Amino acid sequence: MSDPKLTKAVDSICDQFIVTKSKISQLTEYFIDCMEKGLEPCESDISQNKGLPMIPTFVTDKPSGQEHGVTMLAADLGGTNFRVCSVELLGNHEFKIEQEKSKIPTFFFQDDHHVTSKDLFQHMALITHQFLTKHHKDVIQDYKWKMGFTFSYPVDQTSLSSGKLIRWTKGFKIGDTVGQDVVQLFQQELNDIGLSNVHVVALTNDTTGTLLARCYASSDAARAINEPVIGCIFGTGTNGCYMEKLENIHKLDPASREELLSQGKTHMCINTEWGSFDNELNHLPTTSYDIKIDQQFSTNPGFHLFEKRVSGLYLGEILRNILLDLEKQELFDLKESVLKNNPFILTTETLSHIEIDTVENDLQDTRDALLKAADLETTFEERVLIQKLVRAISRRAAFLAAVPIAAILIKTNALNQSYHCQVEVGCDGSVVEHYPGFRSMMRHALALSPIGPEGERDVHLRISKDGSGVGAALCALHANY
Ligand code: BGC
Repeated sequence: MSDPKLTKAVDSICDQFIVTKSKISQLTEYFIDCMEKGLEPCESDISQNKGLPMIPTFVTDKPSGQEHGVTMLAADLGGTNFRVCSVELLGNHEFKIEQEKSKIPTFFFQDDHHVTSKDLFQHMALITHQFLTKHHKDVIQDYKWKMGFTFSYPVDQTSLSSGKLIRWTKGFKIGDTVGQDVVQLFQQELNDIGLSNVHVVALTNDTTGTLLARCYASSDAARAINEPVIGCIFGTGTNGCYMEKLENIHKLDPASREELLSQGKTHMCINTEWGSFDNELNHLPTTSYDIKIDQQFSTNPGFHLFEKRVSGLYLGEILRNILLDLEKQELFDLKESVLKNNPFILTTETLSHIEIDTVENDLQDTRDALLKAADLETTFEERVLIQKLVRAISRRAAFLAAVPIAAILIKTNALNQSYHCQVEVGCDGSVVEHYPGFRSMMRHALALSPIGPEGERDVHLRISKDGSGVGAALCALHANY
């Protein structure tokens, strides 16, 4: 028998996670305002700008797919993994890639380990060395490597090959990296272990890589119908980029803008850093759980509040905090579960098992997932309610995820630019790729957004996997050094 008090409490929590059509419209309009504000010159300190960060990437062209050249290196520091690749662009939308991925050791995320910036970049340099020893032993020392470095955190980028970390996100907290040029930090460590022949020539973000890789992969015939216009990530973190007209990027130094215009350039890719949308909480839907996670459990309180409602790092933590609250109200018993004292122990993968479990199956996958992840035994009635909560959390995330896409399409008028009016959005990240139903819920929300059902039909969400390899190599290809 289900407990009516618990059922009532869960229903009222689920109601707080509903994002209505009018909320989507309000957020979309506000997102456009924040983009415009973010393109204006920053007063002094970029972290104080109230609009979106809107970081110029210094990438001015979308690849055609015919680019080719020497083999280049790419390194990618993401939310969970560090990846090193060598990439050869072959033209004709083809490429060859060798790669190694390693988990970032957990102590880099822990406060009590006192890790320094040097420790992190040294670790990355060592892994790069191992990669070269394994895959390119014959040329390791006497080949001049160009490297594109995908660093997926907010940086104040001042050229294609330099940028200072504004702040860490996704759980990192290494204080002495903030304000430093991450390219110099990496280059220094590469030099120190004898890899001064590896030149970090381009700094990029995973979103930019995703857009560039999608353009490279897309055939000319496909491009004539669906132009890739946005690159986005819904994984551990979330972010997106698009091509903005140079004349609208008022924050660019006027001399560099003029120079680019005189070279015939018209656009620049902007890394919006949309994880930071509405840090002031003017319009974002907010529950007491969001506030608690931000203030008590996140490493960057007050920042990246959109990300904390949408990205994979936080969805399980929202569920954990709801269950803790239900226990506090004496409606639910967590027994001896490790959930109590372990923030972030519930992963999005656990939630994805719960999301698609069925009553016909007695919600047994849910039972197994909760036992495995948190040593939590549940009754069938409890599992029904937990599934309801999971679906409310993921639906809110997917509905919010549609907002920046709709906003960018409206701001750039992308849906009215070609005869067929169709566009592609290159997507990467575990949530958009693997979370059951995430993309269809996003589509549903796009239809509810101001672009409407007609606009939604013209948007193709395509998984684009090679951003940090091909995308970074494309950036490195054009870099001068
Ligand atoms: C970072 C972005 C990154 C995104 C997706 C966010 O936390 O601030 O730079 O693109 O995660 O990885």
